Amino acid sequence: MGSRVVAIDGPAGSGKSTTAAAVARALGMPHVESGTLYRAVTLAALDAAVPVEGPRLVALAHALPIRLDLTASGFRPEIAGTDVSEAIRTERVTAHVSAVSAIGEVRRWVNEEVRRAVARYPAGAVLDGRDIGTVVFPDALLKIYLTAAPEERARRRLRQEGRPSDPDDLGREVAELARRDGADSSRALAPLMPAPDAVLLDTSGMTLEAQVAHIVALARKAFS
Ligand code: DC
Repeated sequence: MGSRVVAIDGPAGSGKSTTAAAVARALGMPHVESGTLYRAVTLAALDAAVPVEGPRLVALAHALPIRLDLTASGFRPEIAGTDVSEAIRTERVTAHVSAVSAIGEVRRWVNEEVRRAVARYPAGAVLDGRDIGTVVFPDALLKIYLTAAPEERARRRLRQEGRPSDPDDLGREVAELARRDGADSSRALAPLMPAPDAVLLDTSGMTLEAQVAHIVALARKAFS
C-alpha cells in the first residue's frame, strides 16, 4: 500500500498550487505547498543577511522557527508566529529561492516538515512541489506532472501577482521562468523531473475546472 498522497509536481507557473488547492477542497483533504517552506527560509535568510549556505540556513529555520501552520483553509507558512504568505511571494524572494532550494540540508529539513504535516492526515493529503513524486513521497498513490507552454505560464504568473502583461513584461517573465526552470531542472539534488509513474498533464488549453475534475477522478480511483 502506498502513501495516501496526491503528488502534484511541475515547473513554475504550471498551475500547481491553484490546481492542488482546488483538488484538496474537492477531496476534503488538506493542501500542503512545499514551495512555501523554501520561500520562507529564503525570506528569513535575506532579512537576517545570512549567507546562502546549508548549515546556517537550517539553524536559522530551527531558531526562528519557520513552520507550516494549519488553518481552516489549509497550511500557511509562519515565521515566529507571523503569517508570511504574502512576504514570501515578493520578487526579492523569488530571485533567490532556487539557490536556497539547491542546498541538501535545506531540502532535508523541508522534506521532514512536509512529511510531519502529512502524517497528521492518515485519510490523505494533496501536495505540490517539484520533487514530491520523486523524492518526498515516491510511493504516493497518485502522481501528476503538470506542464504548460512557457507563454501561458508567464501570463498566469503575472496575473497571479497582479502585474501588467504587455509584451515586454511577458518576455521578461518568460526569461525569468526559463532561468528558474533551468536551475531547478539541472541541480544535482532532487532535480525537477516527472516521476516515471507520473500522469503527465499539459494544461495549456485546459480550464482550471477541467484539470481539477480530471485529477479528482484519478485520485478517487487511486484511493478506492
Ligand atoms: O512553487 P514555488 O515557485 O513557490 O517554488 C519556489 C522554489 O522552491 C522553486 O524555484 C523551486 C523550489 N522548490 C523545490 O525545489 N522543491 C519543491 N518541492 C518545491 C519548491
